[in-house]
Amino acid sequence: MLDGDYELFIKKIKKKTGIDLSQYKEAQMKRRLTSLYEKRGFENFQEFFQGLNNQPELFYEFLDRMTINVSEFYRNGKRWKILEETILPKLLEKNKRLKIWSAACSTGEEPYTLAMILSKFAPLSTFQIHATDIDDNVIARAKLGMYPERSLQEVPKDIKEKYFTKEGTFYHISRDIIKSVQFKKHNLLAEPFETNYDLIVCRNVLIYFTEDAKEILYTKFSDALRKEGVFFVGSTEQIFNAVRFNFSSLDTFFMKRSKAATHCYNSVIYYIKALVR
Ligand SMILES: C[S@@+](CC[C@H](N)C(=O)[O-])C[C@H]1O[C@@H](n2cnc3c(N)ncnc32)[C@H](O)[C@@H]1O
Repeated sequence: MLDGDYELFIKKIKKKTGIDLSQYKEAQMKRRLTSLYEKRGFENFQEFFQGLNNQPELFYEFLDRMTINVSEFYRNGKRWKILEETILPKLLEKNKRLKIWSAACSTGEEPYTLAMILSKFAPLSTFQIHATDIDDNVIARAKLGMYPERSLQEVPKDIKEKYFTKEGTFYHISRDIIKSVQFKKHNLLAEPFETNYDLIVCRNVLIYFTEDAKEILYTKFSDALRKEGVFFVGSTEQIFNAVRFNFSSLDTFFMKRSKAATHCYNSVIYYIKALVR
């Protein structure tokens, strides 16, 4: 690899796409991308960048590789059970019209799981379910609502019968579920967050980010929640010293935005970091 090869590539990708690779853990990202360019016959990141400019297929492959899209319905089933049996009933006591965000939703399994669970409580038109991801491709696939058998492994039998139809080797998800989710492209690391969410689900993406990026995101997620709103994280993503971000623990992997407004400190840190960047 050339000296400064990866650093220059980061700059060029940022200019071309707005995606800031420097906020992803370097060793891991470099390894993923190097194995892709070597597989495609390039010798270094600069040649690879030329290739990305000339070959749209390669560019999509790059996006796929850098964004790590694996997902499935009811991923880590026990957590969804806690959401259904403990967290949602409490949230619904306070507000019947929940506003929910699946951040980094990949191909839609996560927001659709939310919709399927919420449909047990009230008609889906009662809820706002937002789902975002940085990758256009996964959003297009989510809207299609077609999944291979392996994505459905953890789906409870009654839900599978109610909301999925098998066609060949794929399963189609019902129109009602698809219609209940609003998908949008959104880069967590670069764009502002909407606010007043009752529940934010952000799982299996923060692990790819640097510690600095994570700190900023925790602050932004906390600010995006209503008081007492809940933040649902992935199984390897427990927040260290959560109180700093105004979170208190509700259950493993579920944080509540606590009442006291202590955001001053966090916001100051956040803006200082943004200024020096
Ligand atoms: C492993 S998937 C997680 C999907 C789902 N949340 C789950 O747990 O099953 C990670 C997703 O994060 C998305 N992602 C990566 N960087 C992102 C960013 N900066 N902003 C928004 N989404 C991002 C990827 O495109 C990918 O779809």
